[in-house]
This record gives sequence, C-alpha cells and structure tokens, in this order.
Amino acid sequence: KGEGNWQERLLAWFDGHKRDLPWREDKPRNPYHVWISEIMLQQTRTEAVKPYFNSWMERFPNISALARAKESEVLHQWQGLGYYSRARNIHKAAMEMAETYGGRLPDRKEDILSLPGIGSYTAGAILSMAYGKREGAIDGNVLRVYARLYQVEEDILKSRGRKKIEALVNETLPDRAGDFNEALMDLGADICIPKNPRCSLCPLAEDCAAFRNGKEKELPFRTPK
Ligand code: ADE
Repeated sequence: KGEGNWQERLLAWFDGHKRDLPWREDKPRNPYHVWISEIMLQQTRTEAVKPYFNSWMERFPNISALARAKESEVLHQWQGLGYYSRARNIHKAAMEMAETYGGRLPDRKEDILSLPGIGSYTAGAILSMAYGKREGAIDGNVLRVYARLYQVEEDILKSRGRKKIEALVNETLPDRAGDFNEALMDLGADICIPKNPRCSLCPLAEDCAAFRNGKEKELPFRTPK
C-alpha cells in the first residue's frame, strides 16, 4: 500500500482478490465469452448468471453454433433470465458475425457498436477485456466509484455528471484497461457498494476524496425526484 498511483493499487488489489467467475477462465479472454457474460450480467445478478453462462456455452460453444440455431432454441436457453430482447439481439448479432466477420466478434469499435444489442458499455468491455485495447467500460458501478473517488457532485445519471466521469475515466485509464475495468466492477460490487460502503476494506480509501471529506455516504448525489 502507499506505492504508485491509485490505478496501480487497484490492480494489485484485483490480482489478489479477483472473483473466480466462469467467463474469466481463459487467458487471453475469449471475446465470445466476454460478450455473452456481459449481456447476461446487465440485468441479472452474478450468482444467477453463472449456471446460465455454463449451460449456454455447452449448448452454443461458439458463435457459428449460435448463428445456426433456431431462435426458439436460443430463447429456450435464455428462459429464466428475462428481458428476452437480449436473447433475440444476441442471436441476430451472431448471424451477422457469421455472415460478415467469419464467425468471429469484430475487433474494431465501430463494427462492434453496429451490432444489435451492443452499446458503448459492452463494446468497451469486449475491446478492453478480450482485445487488450485501452477502452473504458462505464456501468453503474464505475459511475459510483468515480463519483466518490473524485467527489463528483453532479447527478451521475444526468448528462453533465456522466460526461464529467467519462472524461475522468479517459484521463485515468491505465494500460491494463481490461483488468482495470473488471477491478472497478469487483470493487463496486463488494466494497464501494451503494449504501454503507465498506471503506475500511478499500484499497483506495487514501485516494478517495469522498472518504477524506466524510462524504462517502452522500455520494453519488442524486437529484431528488
Ligand atoms: N458485472 C458486469 N460485468 C462484470 C464482469 N466482467 N465481472 C464481474 N461482474 C460484472
């Protein structure tokens, strides 16, 4: 502790504390695994996603197998996860990848963003985690962690607050962007939690403006409805 910048402290913490998750098994990470897990994780809790991810990969081991399947089978495999447009978009995107990209996930940002169901968060996750590119992946966890770390007082769900955090992420993103993005997610899931953050366990407590100023429970600020 105490050495280097906060990004290095966070990565060192991640190296020692990262959660074992089925989609984290390969190194380098399989882009297909990153994509499917990120879509599943968007509206479903990590523990609930694990068995779905594993049986999905048994049934559709690669993008070509998924592209060949009937939509009814894809929806059947999704059953229980809810928000079925996610499954329909996954199937459409897989067919597009089979047709246009040789059955692989493209590695150019514009190509990834043009696929159904993939927005800037998922594109950033794929580019950084699977392709080693220096891209941020800003989800609710990342917004909360940065709002506290830099004591951003704007509403993070409004465009001014979001833009401010996007700028901070771009300025602070280290070379190991994929690990860094996942470290922020793990920190947000286990330590920098929405209510009663566990600052006594946080590797970034000494770097955190909100903690220094006793505002960790007040941030992120939300405009009252
Ligand atoms: N939540 C969303 N993406 C995640 C990931 N890659 N690891 C852990 N939790 C996540």
